[in-house]
Amino acid sequence: MSERIQYEMDDACFAHYQELVHELAGITIRAERKSMLVSRLRRRVRALNLEGFEEYLVYLGKNTVEHEHFVNQMTTNETYFFRTPRVWEYIEDTFLPEWLEGHPNSRLEVWSAASSTGEEAHTLGILMQKFKDANAGFDYKIQGTDIDTSVVAKATIGLYNGRAIDRFRMARPACFEKYMVGNDTDGFRVVPDIKKRINFSSLNLFDTSAIAKQYDLVLVRNVLIYFSASDQEKVMSTVRRNMDAEGVVIIGESESLNSLQTDFESIGHTLYKAKSQSQRKAA
Ligand SMILES: C[S@@+](CC[C@H](N)C(=O)[O-])C[C@H]1O[C@@H](n2cnc3c(N)ncnc32)[C@H](O)[C@@H]1O
Repeated sequence: MSERIQYEMDDACFAHYQELVHELAGITIRAERKSMLVSRLRRRVRALNLEGFEEYLVYLGKNTVEHEHFVNQMTTNETYFFRTPRVWEYIEDTFLPEWLEGHPNSRLEVWSAASSTGEEAHTLGILMQKFKDANAGFDYKIQGTDIDTSVVAKATIGLYNGRAIDRFRMARPACFEKYMVGNDTDGFRVVPDIKKRINFSSLNLFDTSAIAKQYDLVLVRNVLIYFSASDQEKVMSTVRRNMDAEGVVIIGESESLNSLQTDFESIGHTLYKAKSQSQRKAA
């Protein structure tokens, strides 16, 4: 198989891939990201010993089990512990004390939607456990979900090294020491008390029927950027349906709900809460 064939993808073929990734994952791949799509799919075309991208399209049409591999290639999974420090400061200093005051002796339900390899959910776990250690009446449960089955598998193992934990280790050494176990050779994982409160599963955020829970805190960070405005609205309406009326949503630094039609109002940079019924009627 020649390298030349693998590198070529005409516009019609690219348009088919754009359609397919949107249909399967809601992801919009713009024309300027064509080279990214080509380089990611090249690996898969090679692994399957196919001649090129046209043939892979035909293969995808005939083999729906391949859709999972295709989607896994199309996702961008960048993440690390304590990404965006101000988010964690808000959760620790404001959200958790306020929530406990309104819900003594209850369990906080948290959803890390688009959890990738799990660093976000485990960061949440560390802060929740720290809070629990100081507040006996508090408990928590964290659900991480992602469409990409390969990152869900890694998150479930939950073993981290290098870049994923470097900043955490430097910025919060005492916390790292207390809540992470392991070594540089094998990697580090959260202590069992945290681990047992975190669960990961695969979920497409466009699959509206799959979740049926009322979360108190939802992190849907750095995933909306991959969706069109109308698709972002669909995802946010799913998030709203699965949230407590008093719940809080946190989105990514480069994302905003302000120009979208949603049932959320801003309560700070990247922070939102559900609109009340009267606000919804007035809108
Ligand atoms: C850049 S990572 C964000 C990870 C983490 N939330 C953070 O902010 O560090 C984006 C994740 O969104 C996931 N994703 C993309 N489309 C999705 C969809 N339709 N449903 C669920 N997850 C999706 C990708 O698989 C990827 O792991």
